[in-house]
Amino acid sequence: MSEPASKRLYIKTYGCQMNVYDSERMADVLRPLGYAVSDQPEGADLVVLNTCHIREAAAEKVYTELGRIRVMREEKQAAGDGRMGVVVAGCVAQAEGDEIIKRAPVVDLVVGPQAYHQLPELIAKVTRARGERLAADFAPDEKFDALPVERHVSGPTAFLTVQEGCDKFCTFCVVPYTRGAEFSRPVESVLAEARGLAAKGVREVTLLGQNVNAYDGAEASGDRGSLAKLVRALAKIDGLDRIRFTTSHPNDMGEDLIAAFGELNALMPYLHLPVQAGSNKILRAMNRKHTAESYLAVIEKIRAARPDIAIAGDMIVGFPGETEKDFEDTLELVRAVDYASCFSFKYSRRPGTPAAAMPNQVPDEVAVERLARLNALLDQQREAFNASMVGRTLPVLFERPGRHPGQAVGRSPYLQGVHVDAAEQLIGQIVPVRIEVAGKNSLTGALAAREAA
Ligand code: 5AD
Ligand code: SF4
Repeated sequence: MSEPASKRLYIKTYGCQMNVYDSERMADVLRPLGYAVSDQPEGADLVVLNTCHIREAAAEKVYTELGRIRVMREEKQAAGDGRMGVVVAGCVAQAEGDEIIKRAPVVDLVVGPQAYHQLPELIAKVTRARGERLAADFAPDEKFDALPVERHVSGPTAFLTVQEGCDKFCTFCVVPYTRGAEFSRPVESVLAEARGLAAKGVREVTLLGQNVNAYDGAEASGDRGSLAKLVRALAKIDGLDRIRFTTSHPNDMGEDLIAAFGELNALMPYLHLPVQAGSNKILRAMNRKHTAESYLAVIEKIRAARPDIAIAGDMIVGFPGETEKDFEDTLELVRAVDYASCFSFKYSRRPGTPAAAMPNQVPDEVAVERLARLNALLDQQREAFNASMVGRTLPVLFERPGRHPGQAVGRSPYLQGVHVDAAEQLIGQIVPVRIEVAGKNSLTGALAAREAA
């Protein structure tokens, strides 16, 4: 019996790239039930909020959105257009599923990040009883085995989750509680997914994992693999011209992975390697298990292997006990690294994490002021990095049309957005572009002669 392909599914994704991947996979799971993805929530038959728990502000957004959805559901019902199903998925679902059911009666179903492969059965149940919750058990192997092999692709780039969870237990972070222990998918399962993507025209994959460089999925022989070996195997797949991975921990940056940056053309010269703080006292309190010096030593090795690599990072200001001197150590580390791009966050006290119970929480106005100073420095570094591209010719993978007619937007090897006129027909191709203008967040250029790149 085939279902009519007439039901509309709207998925809103919050948080990290892994959630983007999960949302695509939820759509893959629901497609056989007749759900087609829609980009508007109004009138949808099923709304899924794929949530993020990393900071308080991210988690609170869910409740605001649920308020809007309640109104939409009432309008749909009043119009005699049937019922709107409402699902909360992702890390907030995992962390506070019961609270969501209590606080937001509009929610039919709560499903954690390791259980969404069961959405079809759950949705069938929910038409009978509301308040179903499936969040608590971590079984990523079952999930990946149960997901459809077939992926729907929508452009020349794709995310591919290879590793989930975290055993590091940084004292500020909810991930070990929302995503569970480290789990790596078997090598063959990753390669099969990557081959399928390449066969559909994907030219660039970004391997995802909360600790992606700790990847140790089983090889066909039964041995443990490594990210370096996985990247080397992926680089051999026909059509996959670009490989990236994110996010990495400095302590798992092995020699073989560093060497791969110097050896593989397909491995893009961009690495997101968060450090979080520049003061060793704070790094210790964060349980990062590395120092500012050891982080800089890793960066130095990577730059020796691949001199043009763009380094990106994450920084937290206002961690409990952070003094002005500690913060200045952060600025000093940022100056020493010279980031191409770096995300900066004000520490957010997350219930249940060790840092939430630490004394000397930093007053909000102090953290706000430090964040502004850090951002001024990071903006300068990013702008200087972008400016250094002007006059260079870079291979750009065109991904989508731009805002102006005929324009296309792609990415440089360093992950910068690049806007080019008269390039729309080149979407899906890697083409040399001469960079003419550097903006704060992106570049603009013109098509160069093919020989030039
Ligand atoms: N407060 C602020 N930032 C956080 N991050 C993780 N947990 C917190 C928190 N409690 C940041 C870290 C991490 C990124 C994904 O989010 O910088 O690398
Ligand atoms: Fe948010 Fe972290 Fe969960 Fe990603 S893993 S969705 S960043 S809480």
